[in-house]
Amino acid sequence: MRKKIVAGNWKMNKNLQEGVALAKELNEVLTADKPNCDVVICTPFIHLASVAQIINPDIIGLGAENCADKEKGAYTGEVSAEMVKSTGAQYVILGHSERREYYNETPEILKEKVLLALANGLKVIFCIGESLEERKANKQNEVVKAELEGSVFNLSAEDFSKIVIAYEPIWAIGTGLTATAEQAEEIHAYIRSLIEAKYGAEVADNTSILYGGSCKASNAPELFAKPDIDGGLIGGASLKAPDFKGIIDAWK
Ligand code: PGA
Repeated sequence: MRKKIVAGNWKMNKNLQEGVALAKELNEVLTADKPNCDVVICTPFIHLASVAQIINPDIIGLGAENCADKEKGAYTGEVSAEMVKSTGAQYVILGHSERREYYNETPEILKEKVLLALANGLKVIFCIGESLEERKANKQNEVVKAELEGSVFNLSAEDFSKIVIAYEPIWAIGTGLTATAEQAEEIHAYIRSLIEAKYGAEVADNTSILYGGSCKASNAPELFAKPDIDGGLIGGASLKAPDFKGIIDAWK
């Protein structure tokens, strides 16, 4: 049975001290009241090694928000998948729409990043999703299909089983607009059907597909109740422990 997951994406928020304090608080809160799902926090690179020392890995997983598309060497300012892994992190977010848009990450670059992440033993939270214009033109299915084909459908079934998909409609990210549970379920089911066509029913059944985009404690229960929505990738609401806990509790 596939995993239910609530993952936080801190983005470029929190200095080191603030991030450590948030991780500590979250660890305490979730130790006292155990979650009913896997919980992951994805932090800026600089937090990873410190946060890894604080959290109980049986309760909270740790991930980066990016990694390099090169293995090692003269790439000033980059952080490799191996470096991420060496901090104690187990996950990396790749393909986030902000990276695609502001840092020009193409499907080919993302394909390289995914391969390097997997080669270094990281699990990948791979983000896909359409823009508002694409949604208005009813192109959302086309867009997510191309994103999967462009960067992850080259993988073997064994490697694909280390991928978590996050469907994040760009128009819902940080905007307060959420896809309705019905809209999200429709495209999640479509994504699962694509995985089934490519890798078969068993892999499709075992793939966790998260929803992301203005997910919060008030709308999480309705979203998570849908059969093909296996949790959330949470931006803004992952920055305060009570807000994040509220979403985690949607699985109770
Ligand atoms: P949001 O971000 O929850 O702030 O909308 C989600 C994401 O970008 O992962």
